[in-house]
Amino acid sequence: MDEFGLRKAVESDLQEIIRLWKQNIKTINTASDIADFFHHSTNYFFVAVSTSESTEEKLMGFVGGAIRGGHGHISGIAVDTEYRNRKVGEKLIKAVERKFIDDAFETVTLEVRKSNRDAMRFYELQGYQPSHIVKGYYADGEDALVYAKKI
Ligand SMILES: CC(C)(COP(=O)(O)OP(=O)(O)OC[C@H]1O[C@@H](n2cnc3c(N)ncnc32)[C@H](O)[C@@H]1OP(=O)(O)O)[C@@H](O)C(=O)NCCC(=O)NCCS
Repeated sequence: MDEFGLRKAVESDLQEIIRLWKQNIKTINTASDIADFFHHSTNYFFVAVSTSESTEEKLMGFVGGAIRGGHGHISGIAVDTEYRNRKVGEKLIKAVERKFIDDAFETVTLEVRKSNRDAMRFYELQGYQPSHIVKGYYADGEDALVYAKKI
């Protein structure tokens, strides 16, 4: 099993973050939308990288945060299928939460598609609680469930 480490994302990670985002998250966001999120909030983007000596550094997953309405917000998180269930997602969430804490934010929010039960289970295990539904939040008309966590 590959070892992995976490670090802040840098500009040269952007193409891989776009790939991870579009490949793993049901979204209509374009590469240019994702690049805009990244450039507005680079400080809140973290990547998980494999650190096995035999291979080149490889991005296994990312988390992208932002500041929204005076609190921390998770805009996207994804781990490539082959690296799931190894606590990569958990470590990514913890990294962005630590950054929000360092910057004196007290709450983190995020939205999940109502159909994405796997992600709901994952977020609930990380201490997020369902708050309310936003009808038709996504461009294809699907409702979002908003989650929040006090950090
Ligand atoms: C959600 C996601 C990031 C989780 O990443 P991961 O690295 O596999 O998660 P972890 O290994 O850190 O799991 C942490 C905990 O969540 C649980 N969990 C993770 N994925 C789960 C799933 N699909 N269903 C149920 N529980 C899940 C794990 O069992 C683990 O629980 P434990 O602490 O009791 O052992 C990953 O499944 C993913 O990229 N999904 C597609 C993208 C997506 O839906 N993103 C969210 C919407 S933006």
